[in-house]
Amino acid sequence: MYKLYPYFTNDGSVGLFSPDADDIYHSTYGALTEAYEKFILPADLVNYFQKNNEIKILDICFGIGYNSKSFFDFFLKKILNENFNQKNNNIASIYTDKNKYNEKIYTDKILHKKNIKTEHVEVDKNEIILDTKKIRPQKYKIFIRAVDTDKNLAFLSPFFVTGEKKLKNEKIAFSQEKIMKMLKKSKNSKLRLNDEINIIFLHKIIKNHPEILTDPEISKILNDKNYVHYFDTHIRRLFEFYRICKGNYNPFKKLTAFLHNIYYLYISSSHKKALKALKMVDFKFDLKIEDARLALLSDLNRYNYIFLDAFTPVKCPCLWTIDFFKLLYEHLDPDGMILTYSNAASIRNAFINAGFYVGKIFNPTSNKFMGTVAVKNKSLVKYELSEYDFGLLNTKAGIFYRDENLNASNEAIIEAHKKEFENSDLISSSKFIKLYKLNKK
Ligand SMILES: C[S@@+](CC[C@H](N)C(=O)[O-])C[C@H]1O[C@@H](n2cnc3c(N)ncnc32)[C@H](O)[C@@H]1O
Repeated sequence: MYKLYPYFTNDGSVGLFSPDADDIYHSTYGALTEAYEKFILPADLVNYFQKNNEIKILDICFGIGYNSKSFFDFFLKKILNENFNQKNNNIASIYTDKNKYNEKIYTDKILHKKNIKTEHVEVDKNEIILDTKKIRPQKYKIFIRAVDTDKNLAFLSPFFVTGEKKLKNEKIAFSQEKIMKMLKKSKNSKLRLNDEINIIFLHKIIKNHPEILTDPEISKILNDKNYVHYFDTHIRRLFEFYRICKGNYNPFKKLTAFLHNIYYLYISSSHKKALKALKMVDFKFDLKIEDARLALLSDLNRYNYIFLDAFTPVKCPCLWTIDFFKLLYEHLDPDGMILTYSNAASIRNAFINAGFYVGKIFNPTSNKFMGTVAVKNKSLVKYELSEYDFGLLNTKAGIFYRDENLNASNEAIIEAHKKEFENSDLISSSKFIKLYKLNKK
């Protein structure tokens, strides 16, 4: 039977354990923290959006969606809001230049709305119309393609809650000081934002996979009294609504009506904000329930960012092979970046042999390197591999996984890797480490 066990990770966000996969889906260190530290912050999105207003992201192993949602969350607050505020400031400088304009008008309609002091401002009506067009916040175009083999997870995705209470009580430097600042300060607005993001994603997932609404396993998990507090109340109600009407409804009409009600009941002000924000963004989210290898073979996109969040290489080697990385190479924009949590020598070596330049991810909170970036444009590498890291690549630890036809089972890939390892003449990583330390003395 399909089973999942939710638990609170150390930053208060919910993680999942699967007895079938015999693995956790999220680090106990903090599911949300990890999404920010390993994917969102090292992507340097503020810099990216200074030069671009379109972005394509591939989220490999979507799971319950922390990486995509954290991106979207960051985008709404850090990019869209700040861009909007900045443009509003520009309005002030344009319209308060007294000498430039000749006709006095009452400026309530345009300027007052923007909260700009308008006393004694002389403006030309025509200029207003033109400049209002000019300063309109730029239209962003976002495309996220997410891939995962597990449709149940994707459906649970809109349901995760962040364990707000726990978050407040625990002293976790990163999540408390940085994430909490980054997310809105007041508890209510943060919860409202979760709702918005959850509902936006739910809407997109249902659009592509309406069949998940009637999955009995999901209903069971959502209604199990042991788990009920892990899931978002509004979305559980949405699920109930569908369950009750199933059979004779058009999901989209009813969905909209229902969302309208819960927005007005619980989150009306942020609903308006979200709608306003979404009007400024051309946002497409597409979830493929498929093996990532297959999904990519039929995908013609080139991505600006690829988040690779597969289970560890020993559990899921098919998404860590040199052949899969070659496929990723074809799907990465020339100035794009792949980000992953793994810092294993075999993974870095596979990226290099697939044609990438490789760098490390530095985490200022722990003052440690904790992941890998792979790029085509070397100048995007911020933290290069050290002499020691390169040395490790030439040991047995650097032997990578292979999957020439991109269809081997994980077991077959592991077996072939084991053989190559046993027959290799390379030195072991432990011997290399000893020698390296001796030489450094
Ligand atoms: C570590 S979890 C990902 C966690 C996820 N990023 C999140 O935010 O919840 C690994 C995911 O890989 C998925 N998976 C395993 N094999 C896969 C494959 N061959 N192709 C695509 N997804 C796969 C699993 O279903 C699981 O959801």
